[in-house]
Amino acid sequence: MKTDISNKTVVLCVSGGIAAYKSVELLRLLKKQGADVRVIMTQNATDFVGPLTFQALSGQTVCTSLFEGNDASIKHIEWAQEADAVVIAPATANVIGKYANGIADDALSTFMLAVTSPIILCPSMNTNMYQSKPFRRNLETLRTDGCFIVEPEAGELACGTSGPGRLPDPPDILDRILCCLTPKDLKGRQVLVSAGPTREHIDPVRFISNPSSGKMGYAIARAAEHRGGEVVLVSGPTMLPDPLNIEVIRITSAEEMAIAVFERMPTSDIIIKTAAVSDYRPKEQATQKIKKGEDEKVLGLQKNQDILKELGRRKKNQFLVGFAAETEALEKHAGQKLVAKNLDIIAGNIVTRPDSGFGTDTNQVTLFYRDGTKEPLSVMEKDAVAHVLLDRVVERVCADK
Ligand code: PMT
Repeated sequence: MKTDISNKTVVLCVSGGIAAYKSVELLRLLKKQGADVRVIMTQNATDFVGPLTFQALSGQTVCTSLFEGNDASIKHIEWAQEADAVVIAPATANVIGKYANGIADDALSTFMLAVTSPIILCPSMNTNMYQSKPFRRNLETLRTDGCFIVEPEAGELACGTSGPGRLPDPPDILDRILCCLTPKDLKGRQVLVSAGPTREHIDPVRFISNPSSGKMGYAIARAAEHRGGEVVLVSGPTMLPDPLNIEVIRITSAEEMAIAVFERMPTSDIIIKTAAVSDYRPKEQATQKIKKGEDEKVLGLQKNQDILKELGRRKKNQFLVGFAAETEALEKHAGQKLVAKNLDIIAGNIVTRPDSGFGTDTNQVTLFYRDGTKEPLSVMEKDAVAHVLLDRVVERVCADK
């Protein structure tokens, strides 16, 4: 199932770094996922962002001191017991140093020693501080203790220097929190996913393609990574950023996709081909821009290799999943592709619906299985479709072992 944090309690700890403003957005994203979020701030953090901002967005009193006498300061040790996950973002060198050495001298550090849930640390500081030996020692201690570390990004820092130390953007931190909370039922499995369109160039500035945005395939790759899989994503041209902790191979044409996919096939356990591959390419590709000329022009096309069909032919122990993009007769066409391409599952979607198919955030998919059964799913976010599909893959892959 999709990692559902709508019934989870997340404690967001904010320490005094310039990136504290980003944790306001992180709080908003966590609330959007339905989580119950409680906030603890160090006194220094309150110099960067006022507790009232976090209070308004979380709907709860913020804990900033052990001795305020309000609900939050009295209950913050209870929060440690109730938390499903604790995130420190940003985590300063001071907070990490204190936690690594068991020092408890304020609300946040006292709370941390009482936590038993997964802990996600997002260090953020000046590059030299980040690379200093005492800090590295403390961070390694906490990694060994089982904390999940979200490494900072490299880039220009507020202090004017450039290098590692920048707090990742809140959607990336959220992604790591979800990863941390997802059961690892794909651990040890190599998962190959293809996504996006292909482009078949006519000349350097024109091509044949389709409206695939890559959203469905990227959602599957992300979900597989969250579930512990080692994921390789072969992607056609998309506007989407590389998902975290996934090897992304960017290709343009169907021929390039075929090369990348066949190269990775032997080491893959599960292959999911979500890409919308062009069935044809121009017979000839002009090396220079074709000039406007006669009123009519005929474009000769030549068939591309059907990558999925070839995967089905070469298949040994791999679990093979295809997608079928249809405008009519879904069951008939998807069923024919399932058999012709020797697949274990095909996910059929009607791509003319406004809530389904190309470019949308949601999809309505029917899963057709090798044994002739089918499972229509309701309209869901593509992330949720990805997890249901992987649930079915895991059930079958594990049953085969
Ligand atoms: O990327 P999004 O905007 O999120 O849109 C998602 C999607 C609509 C692209 C996705 O849900 C989807 O339906 N993907 C399959 C698109 C497709 O090419 O369908 P098809 O019925 O033409 O092909 C069937 C299968 O054969 C697909 O798995 C395809 O990857 C594969 N194929 C097709 C042709 C070819 N030459 N080689 C292939 O491997």
